Amino acid sequence: MVVLISGTGSNLLALIRASNQPGCGFSVKAAISNNPQAPGLDRANQVGIATAVVNHRGFETRQDFERVLQSTVDAYEPDLVLLAGFMRILGADFVSHYLGHMLNIHPSLLPKFTGLNTHQRVLEAGEREHGASVHFVTRELDGGPIIAQDTVPVFENDTAAVLAARVLEREHRLYPMVVTWFAAGRLQLRDNRAVLDNQVLPPGGMPVESVLEL
Ligand code: GRF
Repeated sequence: MVVLISGTGSNLLALIRASNQPGCGFSVKAAISNNPQAPGLDRANQVGIATAVVNHRGFETRQDFERVLQSTVDAYEPDLVLLAGFMRILGADFVSHYLGHMLNIHPSLLPKFTGLNTHQRVLEAGEREHGASVHFVTRELDGGPIIAQDTVPVFENDTAAVLAARVLEREHRLYPMVVTWFAAGRLQLRDNRAVLDNQVLPPGGMPVESVLEL
């Protein structure tokens, strides 16, 4: 696996930690960031994972940036590319190059709250439930077939930061779980649908109760 990050890298760390567990079936080859200051790069280095930076600011066009990003990723020959807090919108060519082999984790119960600032928006909308989703990356922003979701309650006096921390804890459990399925050959993208163990997953992905049983 290659993991693309822009920031803290706590999901990256959770993935690396999971990859060190016996029987998980995957390894993290590299962490690549568009942001040279991403704290996740240091955290990856500290645990012996290769890192690379492809700074989008150094390119005139998104296509140029993505061409170099793609060759940097491909140098590691990953079976799966994982977006983990990667804050660039990816173009059609990049997405189709990795179609079926690229996942994202998003901090909301998709299809609700695509885009940014999800925790604040959830509070403002008065939602009682929130969570995280892992999905295949397709050309639709945060819109690819959902593989699995985990749900947390929203309490009356929550702040966005408190809620973010509650969701993040679940993300750290959810993402490695899904990656383990992929590594075991159980998970595919077929006809724009997420398929686990030859069963098309429901629109909201694997229900959380079932995720926890696995
Ligand atoms: C996570 O909330 C993830 O869902 C979102 O960006 C955040 C990244 O956090 N896409 P971290 O860098 O993994 O700590």
